[in-house]
Amino acid sequence: MSEQKITTATIRARKGKGEKIAMLTAYDYATAMVLDEAGVEIILVGDSLGMVVLGYDSTIPVTMADMLHHTRAVARGTKRALVIGDMPFMSYQVTKAEALRNAGRFLQEAGAHGVKLEGGREVADLISSITAAGIPVMAHLGLTPQSVNQFGGFKVQGKDEAAERKLMEDARLVEEAGAFSLVLELVPAPLAERITKSVGIPTIGIGAGAGCDGQVLVVNDMLGLFERFVPKFVKRYAHLNTQMKEAVRTYVEEVKSGKFPDEKHSF
Ligand code: KIV
Repeated sequence: MSEQKITTATIRARKGKGEKIAMLTAYDYATAMVLDEAGVEIILVGDSLGMVVLGYDSTIPVTMADMLHHTRAVARGTKRALVIGDMPFMSYQVTKAEALRNAGRFLQEAGAHGVKLEGGREVADLISSITAAGIPVMAHLGLTPQSVNQFGGFKVQGKDEAAERKLMEDARLVEEAGAFSLVLELVPAPLAERITKSVGIPTIGIGAGAGCDGQVLVVNDMLGLFERFVPKFVKRYAHLNTQMKEAVRTYVEEVKSGKFPDEKHSF
């Protein structure tokens, strides 16, 4: 693995080259170090933070203060990967000025290299303004969790012809607006592949099949840490929840029985 820092230029240059982009979320320093050392190219400090770390039912309650706090920790643990901060609900929807200021805070105060925001045509103008200010933007289409109340649940998007057409157009619009990459969430695989072929920026899929230029998963899901529900698209690469529980149970037993600490762990 090359030690060279991953930049938005590295990511853009992947388009059409055949080497897929590996992206995961992280929310803390220790996990970011593991991901960075294991070769993850983009670390997203996702607002999924709200669900898998803070215990909310959705991403809606997550604030700028939450996001900046966790992005700082991730940035401190990252040497090589590109760090992207997820703009939380209502941090970019009210006014353009507020959106620009909040996007800037991710870079200036938290050490991120860019931001992600959800939406298509309705945020295209905003993407232009944020990128014009020198802040790289990752777009996000399909199931955009901040609009879960409007969608009526976490459902696959783009299932009829009109919805397909809208997604294709939105992808073109966010590319034209200057986004350097595009997350496609819960989109049928054939449609995600068509979108991928139709745009000049890399697409990164989550529940969007193998035809995207890269893949992203929520780290707590793929490590088997978060067990409240497991979406169909999540592949579990470990079962840390079970392992952690076993380790903690053993510790409790050993403390109670006096087995820990032994001589080796005493002064
Ligand atoms: O918040 C998040 O983790 C995300 C990814 C699932 C793309 O937006």
